[in-house]
Amino acid sequence: MREQLEQIKASALAELAQCGDGKALEALRVSYLGKKGQLTAILKQMGKLSAEERPVIGQVANEVRQALEAAIAEKQEALKEKELNDRLEAERIDVTMPGKAAKAGGLHPLSIVTNDLIDIFQSMGFDVVDGPEVETDHYLFEALNLPKDHPARDMQDTFYLGDNLLLRSQTSSAQIRVMEQRKPPIRIVCPGRVYRADEVDATHSPVFHQMEGLVVDKGITMCDLKGCLEQFVHEIYGPETQVRFRPSFFPFTEPSVEVDVSCSECGGKGCRICKGAGWIEILGAGMVHPNVLRGCGIDPEVYSGFAFGVGLDRLTTTRYKISDIRLLFENDTRFLDQFN
Ligand code: DAH
Repeated sequence: MREQLEQIKASALAELAQCGDGKALEALRVSYLGKKGQLTAILKQMGKLSAEERPVIGQVANEVRQALEAAIAEKQEALKEKELNDRLEAERIDVTMPGKAAKAGGLHPLSIVTNDLIDIFQSMGFDVVDGPEVETDHYLFEALNLPKDHPARDMQDTFYLGDNLLLRSQTSSAQIRVMEQRKPPIRIVCPGRVYRADEVDATHSPVFHQMEGLVVDKGITMCDLKGCLEQFVHEIYGPETQVRFRPSFFPFTEPSVEVDVSCSECGGKGCRICKGAGWIEILGAGMVHPNVLRGCGIDPEVYSGFAFGVGLDRLTTTRYKISDIRLLFENDTRFLDQFN
């Protein structure tokens, strides 16, 4: 029996040395030390031994069991460590590799220009207001001194959603909404999208952007308009840029002007950007027509005001020397990335 025990020990230790993972180890433990294991089977036969032999063999059996248990425990530790090392090796991170940069979004050039304008006008005490893109005939035309049969309506041949509802063709409707709600002094700008039935080409889009400005107070003159616009042009294009007023016509202003800036690309000599003119038209403006003030319940004998409407797309394309307005609407990230 003693030999049997020694043999079991030897074969168990030999198998143990081959054991490569936790599962095999557990199987081995069960096959020797488990209830139906080989060592247990031997111990069950102890009863057959004589009284002298029993303690001697018993001691050997115990030693064998302890030796096996110890060896198994040791192996278990070793396997655990190996597993951990294997995992660490497999999951190893090379901290010297260049990282993957997270691609951050950025503002659209139109938003950059709009935000800059808002900053400039806010610093001059203007409030920023919002207006609806779907307007009524009243706010878009009638209250702006453009009655139903007025020929100036043709220039804004717009998208009708019903007899009386249409997509706004100019942000000027915001003037009326503000004057109906507030008492002078009024100083607001209203940036937003506008719509016109234009064919798409390098300089036209049926959707574009404007920013309306309105100032109404006692004693407002054309000088205030000029000073205000010069201030904003110099901040956007630089102080060397010249501003030119040309007489024009809008039904809601009298007198009316169109405002040009000297071309920042060629300094006024004439180039591709300004189409040889040396000047770029950026906005329409004028002194608010007495009919408009009166219609909003503001007495034109007491108050006067100026208004202007800037084309934001034109401002953006000239500022960044973008040759085609369509680039602003295509959302090509190769184009947009350049502004981040
Ligand atoms: N609404 C005009 C347009 O879309 C621009 C404009 C001209 C706005 C004169 C004004 C203004 O407020 O006073 O062409």
